Amino acid sequence: MAIERIVSGIRPIGNSHLGDYDEVLKNWIELQHEYECFFFVADWQALTTHYDSPEIIEESVLEMVIDWLAAGVDPAQVTIFIQSKVPEHAELYTLLSMITPLSWMEKFSAHKDQQGKPPSKDLSTYGFLGYPLLQSADILIYRATQVPVCKNQLPHIEFTRDVARRFNHLYGKEKGYEVKAEEAIKKLGSKKGHLYRDLKKSYQEGGDEQVLESAQSLVEEQQSLSHGDKERLLGFLEGGGKIILPEPEFHLIKKNDSSENLFDRNSSDYKQKKQQYLDNPDLIRSVMAHGCEKARKVAKDTMRDIREVMGINF
Ligand code: TRP
Repeated sequence: MAIERIVSGIRPIGNSHLGDYDEVLKNWIELQHEYECFFFVADWQALTTHYDSPEIIEESVLEMVIDWLAAGVDPAQVTIFIQSKVPEHAELYTLLSMITPLSWMEKFSAHKDQQGKPPSKDLSTYGFLGYPLLQSADILIYRATQVPVCKNQLPHIEFTRDVARRFNHLYGKEKGYEVKAEEAIKKLGSKKGHLYRDLKKSYQEGGDEQVLESAQSLVEEQQSLSHGDKERLLGFLEGGGKIILPEPEFHLIKKNDSSENLFDRNSSDYKQKKQQYLDNPDLIRSVMAHGCEKARKVAKDTMRDIREVMGINF
């Protein structure tokens, strides 16, 4: 099975002690032991609401990362990075914008006040309209399987799933896919070929997961089949083509009113760690440089696949 991977970001807008921030952070600290985690500073997204206060963003980035580390996010287990240092997010955002219906974005702008929007600010900008798609790119570029979110962000994850599905539908079918799949069935030989067809038909009519699993193991076991043919036969079982961008699940963060269950910023452990990072800005820089490099490597791999299926892989 594929690895379980978590992606989550927080906007650096000096909000570290407000709203859902502590709940999200506590959740990250728990998740880091169970999953491969990518946690990032969403500085581009911060500009969608705070384009006129760059000083707030500049101040908050380091402060926030120091707070994460002092609270217990472990840089040895987690990939920590800054959104704008992985420009592939912007590339994917641009490419996804080509296939995202305008009506999907407009539906969002109807109830976007949870974004911490100061009532006085004019947010009828292109960037603000598009930020849910930027968030989708943040998630899909790492092929995340899970995204921890508070309740108000659920529509963003639903939207991300819709975008991924549309992408796979448009680009997951190679040219001549069905013909190639039929040829691959022939390569199974007549007995196994029959079995494959029977299982496929039975799964498509009955939806029985066990039937699907038997058919999948039948395909996996064929040592003589090429990787490409296996992929085709596996995809063909479920009727579709390849899944290029998996649809992420959400991991709902429940509000926990008792602040006792959160970490304590007055504890000596927190204060010591914070001081250690304040005294050693290079330490923080190295954590982030390392995280950005790791994130970029994964992001680049995804972009290679995306460019290829979209016909711009020169
Ligand atoms: N939109 C989130 C917020 O406003 C931040 C965010 C950006 C995010 N990209 C993300 C969260 C990807 C989870 C996954 O708080």
